[in-house]
Formats: sequence, structure tokens, C-alpha cells
Amino acid sequence: MSIERHDTRLDRFVDNYAERTNGMRVSAVRALFAVANRPEIVSLAGGMPNIEDLGLQAIADNVSRLIRDHGAKVMQYGSGQGEPEIRERICEVMALESILAHPDDICVTAGSQQGLDLVTRVFCDPGDVILAESPSYVGALGTFLSYQCEVVHVPSDEHGISPAALRETIARLQADGKRIKFLYTIPNFSNPSGLTQPMQRRREVIDACNDGGVMVVEDNPYGLLTLETLPQPAMRAIDPEVIYLGSFSKIFAPGFRVGWVLAPHGVREKLTLAQESATLCPPVFSQFAIADYLEHYDWQKQIVAFRDMYRGRRDAMLEELADAMPDGVSWTQPKGGFFVWLTMPEGLDSQAMLPRGVNARVAYVPGAAFYADGQGAANMRLSYCFPTAERIREGVRRLAGMIRSELEVHEIFGTDFRHPQGSHVPGPSPDLS
Ligand SMILES: Cc1ncc(COP(=O)(O)O)c(C=O)c1O
Repeated sequence: MSIERHDTRLDRFVDNYAERTNGMRVSAVRALFAVANRPEIVSLAGGMPNIEDLGLQAIADNVSRLIRDHGAKVMQYGSGQGEPEIRERICEVMALESILAHPDDICVTAGSQQGLDLVTRVFCDPGDVILAESPSYVGALGTFLSYQCEVVHVPSDEHGISPAALRETIARLQADGKRIKFLYTIPNFSNPSGLTQPMQRRREVIDACNDGGVMVVEDNPYGLLTLETLPQPAMRAIDPEVIYLGSFSKIFAPGFRVGWVLAPHGVREKLTLAQESATLCPPVFSQFAIADYLEHYDWQKQIVAFRDMYRGRRDAMLEELADAMPDGVSWTQPKGGFFVWLTMPEGLDSQAMLPRGVNARVAYVPGAAFYADGQGAANMRLSYCFPTAERIREGVRRLAGMIRSELEVHEIFGTDFRHPQGSHVPGPSPDLS
């Protein structure tokens, strides 16, 4: 039976929405993503992990055994904090990044995206300031803005957040009477920059925050996807007061929607209360399926296989960028994770170029999506996680051709390609993740 939908496109509830929905904007590039998913287009835009090589049959066998032997338990409501079985396993995962944690200090979440939401919910009132690196994860910016927070970007260099700029920003904002609630940082293979904070830098960032009385929120979905060295100790391994967000999305599979927050006891209690009011409990079946996967599957070997696969794709992207990009274009050299951050000469605007990119059959995420304040026009995020190495090379060649012709036009006409500042406000989108 088909039901006719009466959609007048006029929203008669428009005057009823809470003020906080003003911070929830549709990403200006979302429409283009429908186009980007066409097969003729090479998408260097999406941040989806490539999970094709997971042992699906073994996982299916485990899941059906779980239902057969424990169905009544694993399909029931569960604890608001998350199931003890998975919290114990999460401690083993975090130990790979030198974190010594107790299962009681973990609150399981529906992906680390929900962790971001709960942390913001328990700490932030409208108008509070959140510090974020430059650039920063679009989904986090969307969450912060939806809680009516002010996001202030702290300048970064090739090692991530600049400690001097961080100290200066904290002092300036506090002198202005602003309430800074936390620094949000992705120290490993950041989304979107691909940059990693070395150990010394992690310590300096933590010291600057501690001196200014600012909490640190460390978001670390990519830390185990290191492509060159062993995983580094997390910021949480340096300072147990750091609030740590983890996820199974990139080291296993995002569809289960399981992440976690590791936090000092009092914070963890508040997070659990917030979790209960949001969902009663995080997805119980997913938690048991993942705990079972961690117990019966060689998950560490799987992570090594993921690393090998992503390394090949990263190398293909970096080699092709070096071969194909015109002078004046630069990019980061990620040592892990999914992303390369590309910088074009001033005056070019990656958002304005996006339709021309689609004409050239290549898609990327414009840099402005990763700032809350209109920066990033000359940047774009390129991801190497999903397409094959061959498609990545083709996509980079197409992109290089497009940038080259933009530069020629720019040189001839001296046109200012840029959008007005602040024309794009980020909104989380699974395609952008
Ligand atoms: C830096 C960062 N944090 C959080 C997330 C959310 O991941 P999930 O909710 O799937 O754990 C993502 C997803 O891409 C991410 O890149």
C-alpha cells in the first residue's frame, strides 16, 4: 500500500523550534554529495572506512552463535553505562595506546559522535566557548554549534595545535570574560588535516590547558590506524584528567555504532545520566557482538590488514599528488588515518570550484566545512580510505587538471573567486565523516 505524502514544502512549525536548532544547518555541500556518489565520479570526499576485507562469514557465525546461546540477554535492554563485558575489552584496546583504565570509568556510546554530543551536553551552556584546532572535524563543529557554543579555532602548525597560540587564545578569551569549557583535539591523523601531534607537543598542549584551567577532550578514532610507526601513547596516557573518546568505527565497523568515553569518575557518572536520558542504554546487541568479535576474532591482525590496505592507498594519493599537482599547491603527509589536507594558492575557493569538480568527475570536501568561522576557502580535504589506489590516482589527476585550469583563469582575469566569509556553516553528514 502506498501512502500519498502531503508535502507542501512549507514548514508550519517554523516558529515553534527551539533556538538551538538555529545552530543546526544543512551542509551547503550536501546536495553535491548525491552527485558525488555517481559511479563516473571519483569521490575523494567521503570518510567511510573500507570494510570489504572483514571476515564477514566468521562474524556472521559468531553473531548467530551469540543469538542462539544468549539471545534473551543480548537483545534485552541493558546498562546506561554500557555492558561490563565490552567495557573490559575496551580497556584492552586502549592499552595499545598506553592508556591504563578501569572499566568503571568508561561510558559506552552510540559511536564517538554520541560521545561528543554527551560531553557537550553535560558541560556546555549556550555561549560557552570550545577551543578547536584549525581545521577541525565537521561533525564535532556541528554538535558544538547545535548546543549554541562559540567555537574558537586555535592556529596549528605542522605538528598540530600551536602551544603558544593556545596559551595566548586562552588568556585573551579569559580576559574578555568568556567561559572556555574545553579544548577539542584529534592528536592522531586528524580529520581533516591528517596531522599528528608528536609526544612533546601533546605534553605542551596539556600543560597550556592545565595552566589555563581548561579541560582537554581527546578524540581518537584513528590512533590504531598508524601507517608507519607503532601507536603513540594517547594524551589520556599522559594525563588521567583528559576526557578520551574512542570508537570501533574505524578499527572494526561503523554500522554497529559503538564508541566510548573514558572520563574521571564524576564526569562518567554525569555522562551515564545523560546517556540514560538520551537512549536509556547504548545499543546492547552491538556491544555484545563487538565484545564477542574481540574475544573470538584475531582483531589485532585485522587492524594490521587495515593498515596495509590504507597504506597502499595513502601512498598512491601522495605519489600522484606529487606527480600531478601544479606549482603553488601543497598538502600534508599523513602518517596514518584517512585524510590529506590540500592548500591551493590564495584567491582560489574550493567551495565555488566544487560544481566544476563534479564536471571534471572528481569530488572532495571544501575546506570551509572544517571551520566554524569561514576560514578554509583555499583548502580541501581529500580522503584515500574508500576508493581503490587506481581510482585515487585517476581522481587526483582530474583534480590537478581542474586546479590547473582554475589557476590559468585566475591568472588571466585576476578574478576573486572567494565566497563571502562565513557563507558556509558546517552540519554533520555521514558522507562527510
Ligand atoms: C574525528 C572523528 N570523531 C568522531 C567521528 C565519529 O565516529 P563514530 O561516531 O562512527 O565513532 C568521526 C567519524 O568520521 C571522526 O572522524
